[in-house]
Amino acid sequence: MLCELSHERYLFMACVRRGGILPLAIAQQNCALNRPLVSKLPNTGTTIFTVMSKLAHDEGAINLSQGFPDFEPPPALLERITHYLNAGYNQYGPMAGVFELRQVVSDKIKACYGLSADADAEITITPGATEALFVALSAVVHAGDEVIILDPAYDAYDPSVRLNGGVPVHVPLSAVDFSVDWQAVEDAITPRTRLIMTNTPHNPTSAIWDASDIASLRTLVSRYGLYVVADEVYEHIVFDGCRHESLLRYPDLFERSFVVSSFGKTLHATGWRIGVCVAPAALTSEFRKLHQYVSFATNAPLQYGIADFLRTCPEHYLGLADFYQGKRDHFARLLADSRFRLLPSRGTYFQLADYSLVSDAPDVDLATRLTREIKVASVPVSVFCEQPMDVRVIRFCFAKHEDTLKEAAARLCGV
Ligand SMILES: Cc1ncc(COP(=O)(O)O)c(C=O)c1O
Repeated sequence: MLCELSHERYLFMACVRRGGILPLAIAQQNCALNRPLVSKLPNTGTTIFTVMSKLAHDEGAINLSQGFPDFEPPPALLERITHYLNAGYNQYGPMAGVFELRQVVSDKIKACYGLSADADAEITITPGATEALFVALSAVVHAGDEVIILDPAYDAYDPSVRLNGGVPVHVPLSAVDFSVDWQAVEDAITPRTRLIMTNTPHNPTSAIWDASDIASLRTLVSRYGLYVVADEVYEHIVFDGCRHESLLRYPDLFERSFVVSSFGKTLHATGWRIGVCVAPAALTSEFRKLHQYVSFATNAPLQYGIADFLRTCPEHYLGLADFYQGKRDHFARLLADSRFRLLPSRGTYFQLADYSLVSDAPDVDLATRLTREIKVASVPVSVFCEQPMDVRVIRFCFAKHEDTLKEAAARLCGV
């Protein structure tokens, strides 16, 4: 009965019956407690990485599903971080990030991509790339704005757009080589399109962009006034002598972009949760307005330690592509006699495998079966797509010890 009272009637009754205001208020509070929570993401389940890693754990399987190394970060880096932990650097760091790290990132960007990014005004250190992607989207996307997402896409993008009231518009990549169909992208643009998400090197497909992709993006950004959130967490893992087409190479694109990277990926330390967002001053200013209330600041001793390490050991990130290319080639050699057909892996630390010769089951079923039966966990690619893609592929992570890959490949060769 009380639940059906309108707000106005409730106020009226509360006024006229002063003695009854408390019981009425409590009754209404109880009604509110009975109201079910309305989900903001009614169709979103648990991320596939958590699902597959849990299954791998429960089944005692080799976990080639979630993207993390099974080896340690460089000892020199651990030493630096331990130093700062023991030297009293354990309180809040600056909201935008420790200046020493922002300066090292600025120098690295200049050396790698030629851009002079202002450490004070254009670089923000974040708790992981995930936070940076969310905050960048939040800074730009208003209710009803459309955001173009290229499918298959990293699974954080779609919910992050929705949580900000935006409308994700999914445009499929080519089912043959996962290249971008730029005409399809342009066809998807409407007066409400605000932003496009880019990701090179690309998870889950391992495709990379070339100069023609950049030219097409440039045309659309200037023609339609789009913003860009560029996910470049695998910026240092590009194979076969190709160069990483960072948006930081192109000053006109940078003017409209938030470029996000991850120290977790670069330093073999995904558990540390530390990333970076580079954007022009005006965009960074908006970014920080949100960042300060989402996480405020990022783990301080890590930042000091990483700054020292990147300054003194640039060979680590400069050698990352060769390091992972060795693992990619090792894994491919081990699987050469299997019934899996490996698709080109041009960057990241992932390898897609076509399993048409093994099974015609849907990829979710096959990935689950392989985890349960031969104890090797992978990730089904269909979960990264809004619409089903006409491919039978699963993704393996090869950021693993040689022996881990050897054992996994031996099991996969038996399928
Ligand atoms: C494409 C892509 N973007 C973002 C992230 C998240 O990075 P972080 O662990 O720094 O939050 C990942 C992690 O797997 C990724 O693959």
